[in-house]
Amino acid sequence: MDTTDSRINLVVIFGGQSAEHDVSCVTASHVLRAADPTKYRTIPVAISRTGEWCSPHLAELPQGGVNPQSIPARLEANGVPASQNIVQTSSHSAPTVVIPLIHGPLGEDGTLQGLLEMMGVAYVGSGVLSSALAMDKAMAKKVFAHEGIPQVRHISLRDDNMSPSSLQSVSDELGFPLFVKPANMGSSVGVSKVRDAAELQRGAALAATYDQWIVFEEAVTARELEVAVLGNRVPRASVVGEIVPGNDFYDYEDKYVTDSATLMIPASLTQEQSDEVRELALRAYEALRCEGMARVDFFFEENGRGFLCNEINTIPGFTPISMYPKMWEASGVGYSDLINELVAHAQERHSRRKLNTAH
Ligand SMILES: Nc1ncnc2c1ncn2[C@@H]1O[C@H](COP(=O)(O)OP(=O)(O)O)[C@@H](O)[C@H]1O
Ligand SMILES: [Mg+2]
Repeated sequence: MDTTDSRINLVVIFGGQSAEHDVSCVTASHVLRAADPTKYRTIPVAISRTGEWCSPHLAELPQGGVNPQSIPARLEANGVPASQNIVQTSSHSAPTVVIPLIHGPLGEDGTLQGLLEMMGVAYVGSGVLSSALAMDKAMAKKVFAHEGIPQVRHISLRDDNMSPSSLQSVSDELGFPLFVKPANMGSSVGVSKVRDAAELQRGAALAATYDQWIVFEEAVTARELEVAVLGNRVPRASVVGEIVPGNDFYDYEDKYVTDSATLMIPASLTQEQSDEVRELALRAYEALRCEGMARVDFFFEENGRGFLCNEINTIPGFTPISMYPKMWEASGVGYSDLINELVAHAQERHSRRKLNTAH
């Protein structure tokens, strides 16, 4: 390595073992190309579908029209352990910042963040606790309730407590239709909308294949709004975006297969409504102690209870056509500037953390 090169080593970790492997690869290719080469020396690190760490060559990453199907195979063929790369890179004199761009379990849930903490390297996004809390819908709901953040009526059960009578109490309390979700998942994987006791039983069994905690929610008829939040101690909220699902709900197919949902930025809201939901997004972000970035998702029951917080995504979709970067673009922060800002927040948080652990 050129010792006069004072650029930041930007390690982009992507791929991963979740259902969002392909979308993560697409995201990484965009981030690697958008990162300002005068500021960053980019180092791609891929995790295959089966969990191997690889160092793909930049040339192997897709250019232009991305075909996600072709990428994972090449990553898997290149099964070189690469986790040490980060340690080696971070021991060079130039500063290193890691961008974890893996969605879902083992990427967004605090596990990868814990590994990066142990490596002592700065990384983009939330820390261990907030990542884990935001990933676990049952725990996030407890914190939101404690902080008075409005949300849908819900019940969480452990998989060994889902007898017919406890499921009966769930439907007695929440009514049909209701939503059944694994607590730890994303991309609508394992999420069902159920209309009777038999469907409830099946939905619960499906959700239990993904996690030991299952969340049941009343089904609301509501608009779906999203707010992008950026920053550490003094976070800011973007303009509000809206998703109009193409299917019965915003399911996996709608998100990644048919792409039939319509995105609207800004959402059509009054100034007061927009101010209110942006303020709630900041409160929810702070309630889970998020840092760096997160997308806060809401239901908007227009003629009812108003804004209800659904969930926080600490590693939101990050391709240039994803909601998070688009909402920032509409708020005056372009894609490359967004990367610069996230890197700066990662470094700020890292130096603050070092003060706590310097004893
Ligand atoms: N309680 C609910 N009422 C109405 N629609 C819901 C409810 N919960 C989820 N949905 C629909 O299902 C989609 C996925 O659920 P969500 O909780 O956001 O899971 P994920 O973390 O997988 O994105 C939402 O975007 C929405 O369209
Ligand atoms: Mg969601």
